[in-house]
Amino acid sequence: MIHPPWVRITHWINALAMIVMIGSGWEIYNASPLFPFVFPPAITLGHWLAGALLLHFAAMWILVVNGLVYLILGIVTGRFRSKLFPIRPAALLADTRAALAGKLAYDDLSVYNAVQRLLYLGVIVAGVVIVLSGISIWKPVQLQELTRMFGGYDAARYVHFCAMAAIVGFLVVHVTMALLVPKSLRAMILGR
Ligand code: HEM
Ligand code: HEM
Repeated sequence: MIHPPWVRITHWINALAMIVMIGSGWEIYNASPLFPFVFPPAITLGHWLAGALLLHFAAMWILVVNGLVYLILGIVTGRFRSKLFPIRPAALLADTRAALAGKLAYDDLSVYNAVQRLLYLGVIVAGVVIVLSGISIWKPVQLQELTRMFGGYDAARYVHFCAMAAIVGFLVVHVTMALLVPKSLRAMILGR
């Protein structure tokens, strides 16, 4: 088996929850934009600010509980250690070159190349950052210490936004790769 059931189940729950969080986050953003642009309403979720906040605060529980299950199992089963490490600079360089030349080998889907390792590790860290910055702008009074750690409420909002941008950037590359290498998609659905 390439991916055990707990990886596949938590992966797809996370994908759904992330899409709801991104779409509702964009609608929340539109009510008070941080930058001189808004997201086209056709690609936001929740219809208006209150609806989007409702979605954001509902899906966040799914995202956090599911994310904790994935993180804890990833650590205790040793999956993170064996699949995501080590990440060697030389391997990263070689695999980036091969990827850009379209010459990456995908014979063994159970071994991630250095670029995959770095991107998966990076998106896991971005996930932790977006949750921590999210709860610090959700309860800035009760969680003053946490909010202060981000440099205050306003800074935490920018951190939250940047983490979203990183996750969306990852998602574009990630989904493109999954479609270019369909057997990897099959393995993430069926396990083999
Ligand atoms: C535990 C998880 C999360 C919590 C508690 C949370 C909380 C919040 C809160 C309270 C706001 C409103 C900020 C304001 O009033 O301006 C917000 C906005 C937003 N959230 Fe989240 N969030 C979480 C996860 C996520 C995730 C996973 C994403 C996307 C990947 C996301 C994307 C956004 C975006 C784009 C905004 C609008 C940014 C802004 O204009 O400030 N959030 N979030
Ligand atoms: C509809 C959207 C998505 C599709 C089609 C998709 C597809 C896949 C596929 C096919 C794999 C296995 C790929 C491989 O062999 O490298 C995978 C793994 C992974 N995906 Fe996604 N994914 C999606 C959304 C997401 C999202 C939103 C995140 C996180 C923000 C994410 C994070 C990951 C991670 C961390 C792994 C490695 C998991 C592990 O081995 O423990 N994916 N995804």
